[in-house]
Amino acid sequence: MSYVPAKDRYSATPKGFFRRCGRSGLLLPAISLGCWHNFGGAGTDAGHHNDEASFHENCKRMLFSAFDLGITHFDLANNYGPPPGSAEERVGRILKEDFAGYRDELIISSKAGWGMWPGPYGDLGSRKYLLASLDQSLRRLKLDYVDIFYSHRFDPNTPLEETMSALDTAVRSGKALYSGISSYSGAQTADALAICERLGYYKPMIHQPNYNMLDRWIEPNLLGVTERMGLGVIAFCPLAQGQLTSKYLAGIPEDSRAKSTGGFLKPDNIKPETIAKVRKLNDVAKNRGQSLAQMALAWTLRPQAGGQGVTSALIGASRPEQIKENVAALNNPAFSAEELAAIEAILK
Ligand SMILES: NC(=O)c1ccc[n+]([C@@H]2O[C@H](COP(=O)([O-])OP(=O)(O)OC[C@H]3O[C@@H](n4cnc5c(N)ncnc54)[C@H](OP(=O)(O)O)[C@@H]3O)[C@@H](O)[C@H]2O)c1
Repeated sequence: MSYVPAKDRYSATPKGFFRRCGRSGLLLPAISLGCWHNFGGAGTDAGHHNDEASFHENCKRMLFSAFDLGITHFDLANNYGPPPGSAEERVGRILKEDFAGYRDELIISSKAGWGMWPGPYGDLGSRKYLLASLDQSLRRLKLDYVDIFYSHRFDPNTPLEETMSALDTAVRSGKALYSGISSYSGAQTADALAICERLGYYKPMIHQPNYNMLDRWIEPNLLGVTERMGLGVIAFCPLAQGQLTSKYLAGIPEDSRAKSTGGFLKPDNIKPETIAKVRKLNDVAKNRGQSLAQMALAWTLRPQAGGQGVTSALIGASRPEQIKENVAALNNPAFSAEELAAIEAILK
């Protein structure tokens, strides 16, 4: 039977769920879903769905659950898999087969910047690579346009003018509605925006940095710049790939990213000193009546830098239940000064 989205997908979202992305016209859900892991080849997920049919079914259930809960934004990149490109292929198939009537309710993003094909033109930030990759992503996604196209990382060897001109072309050609930058430092972000203003290019309207309780580089380095320049911020890995959940408190479970074949998180990355902090954070979350995952997401989305701070927390998931739990973080988003102080003391 074909998918029929929940009728209350907008009316039942927690208050303030849709948040303005910087000084743009675009609203993003407070929780967005990324397809970096668990959407590639069969058997590469944390849930160990080893045959294609059950793997695909799990991916469909995750996207359906997300959309039913008001998550209108799915994030991709050319290289997501494994193998690279397979997440776009799979999500493209699901968009075509199951979301065909809902394209205008969805924000689909893709990126180019990491190594994608052999030779000198399949990596980093040249015009040659970015625009060829966008065409490839559109073919895999079976879409006419993506909503956001990102430069996935700063390229120290390509003039920033060239990278920004490629993003401008992507928008002017109608193949992307907006552009973004990912993992650029605050200074690189300010340079990129200044170039666009000087040369009359469409400006990136969103930044996608790594940000969570265990990695706070954007607080001193980036948020002041994004706030001043009117960029939205979508924080990736807000759960530190699962470490900021109760998942690893009693060892490394078999059905975890750290044990999956396609995972970027390795068992060696789970450090005892991190787990000691996570255990204390878990107690603070319990006192708030939240799971640790929910508290970590609410914390990521707290107001800061004299403004909104982060627009959207870009989660990953290996099963639909996690998405449901994570969206419910927005039922208790506010922190008391005492709670914030207790968290600071743990994270120090
Ligand atoms: N721009 C960039 O360079 C860049 C880099 C990395 C990621 N990203 C984007 O950010 C997205 C999210 O990254 P991420 O997947 O690392 O994010 P994350 O939200 O930090 O981690 C997701 C993992 O946490 C676990 N999890 C989620 N909810 C849970 C819950 N309620 N209870 C227990 N465990 C839970 C799951 O692990 P298990 O799989 O173990 O169940 C899930 O796969 C990516 O898909 C991608 O779109 C962008």
